[in-house]
Amino acid sequence: MTTFSPSLAFAQQLDSQDPLASYRDQFIITDPDLIYLDGNSLGRMPKVAAERAKQVIDEEWGSDLIRGWNKGWWEAPHRVGDKIGKLIGAEAGQVIVTDTVSNNLFKLATAALTHQPNRKRIITDTFNFPSDLYILQGIKNLLSYGGRVAPHDRGGAYRDHEIIRITSSDNDITPNIAKLESAINENTALVTLSHVVFKSGYTYDMQHITELAHNKGALVLWDLSHSVGSVPIQLDNCNADLAIGCTYKYLNGGPGAPAFLYVNKKIQDKLTSPIWGWWGQKNPFDFGLDYEPAAGATRFLAGTQPMISLLTMEAGIEPTLQAGMDAIRAKSILMTDYASFLTDSWLAPLGFSLGSPRDSAMRGSHISIRHTDGYRINRALIEEMNVIPDFRAPDNIRLGFSSLYTSFAEIWQGFDRIKRVIEEKRHEKYPKQKLTVT
Ligand SMILES: Cc1ncc(COP(=O)(O)O)c(C=O)c1O
Repeated sequence: MTTFSPSLAFAQQLDSQDPLASYRDQFIITDPDLIYLDGNSLGRMPKVAAERAKQVIDEEWGSDLIRGWNKGWWEAPHRVGDKIGKLIGAEAGQVIVTDTVSNNLFKLATAALTHQPNRKRIITDTFNFPSDLYILQGIKNLLSYGGRVAPHDRGGAYRDHEIIRITSSDNDITPNIAKLESAINENTALVTLSHVVFKSGYTYDMQHITELAHNKGALVLWDLSHSVGSVPIQLDNCNADLAIGCTYKYLNGGPGAPAFLYVNKKIQDKLTSPIWGWWGQKNPFDFGLDYEPAAGATRFLAGTQPMISLLTMEAGIEPTLQAGMDAIRAKSILMTDYASFLTDSWLAPLGFSLGSPRDSAMRGSHISIRHTDGYRINRALIEEMNVIPDFRAPDNIRLGFSSLYTSFAEIWQGFDRIKRVIEEKRHEKYPKQKLTVT
């Protein structure tokens, strides 16, 4: 473990030894003074993505018009899926790029539940991204009424499936694995968790949890949104069943870029998508009147894919593919260790605490720093200190570190500015009332 020092010179020395330092030049940086610590929400724009977007618009959409579908557009969900597969330990033919994370969760979780209709338990945790919990609640609602869409709430009248949400034993930093283990039983159809959780950055041991689920005959679905591109993942080696994830965070695919889904080839032909669209049909251009599912993961495509953002994203993931996950992870650990050190030495005396695991093996590429006035401090950082973190209630300021473009000097500057906000009481002038997007 590196022995850290709080001096700027030390941060600059880490930068001079950083094998990934040159990757920063591959990104558009319009304001060199901006401390951007939100790549865990929206990654910076790679130069190659900007060039590709222009090319797709001018040359492909503009000139090829409909011919584009036969020049690589139609296959793009599979081609780009296989590229992402290289980052998440999935052999070709198991990852496709499509839709949003939320929609993909709906399709895969519904498929998993209807595959084992006699098992009624879904296990997740209170650390999961809330949208994932809402999707599960919606599926439970839908399935409980025999496939008919039920009214939103009938006083808890939802029948059949039960959703168990595992809680934390240490103030929302680490889930209680013993509770999780004992909740998985022979009635469990699905265990679904965020691999790296969005608030504390806690990282599940994928292999271990997958084994626990499989021992009881349950399927496992991982949300990789916060881990893809930041943490090495071995879906095939872990024998994972299903996964989903986004491309706009550490993969730098652009706002609203399409998401991906993974279906292990061992179960692909056993599962049925709940959305029977023509892109998932066996022979879409036969225009037959009855649905026949395509073989493999293709059946989880539904309709026409957003080509401009998909092809832009394909270019955006290039720097990640070039750098490789091992180098990315090594720098990420050094950055989160360094940020934890600065939290302890500078911010703890000012009322902050670390809201993330101290063991880097259990941590993704962001940390949360907690303060009772976290929301107003976050506002002050954005409005007047040119620092962009984000805020997650009740008290977490999240600081995300991307190995491809975050420098150690930038982290040092960011912490220095956080310290100044408190010392100069800059946050006190902001209202406690929150803006729409935090
Ligand atoms: C972990 C996680 N899961 C799911 C989602 C929802 O993704 P989408 O809005 O693309 O459906 C997000 C969004 O940030 C997320 O962070």
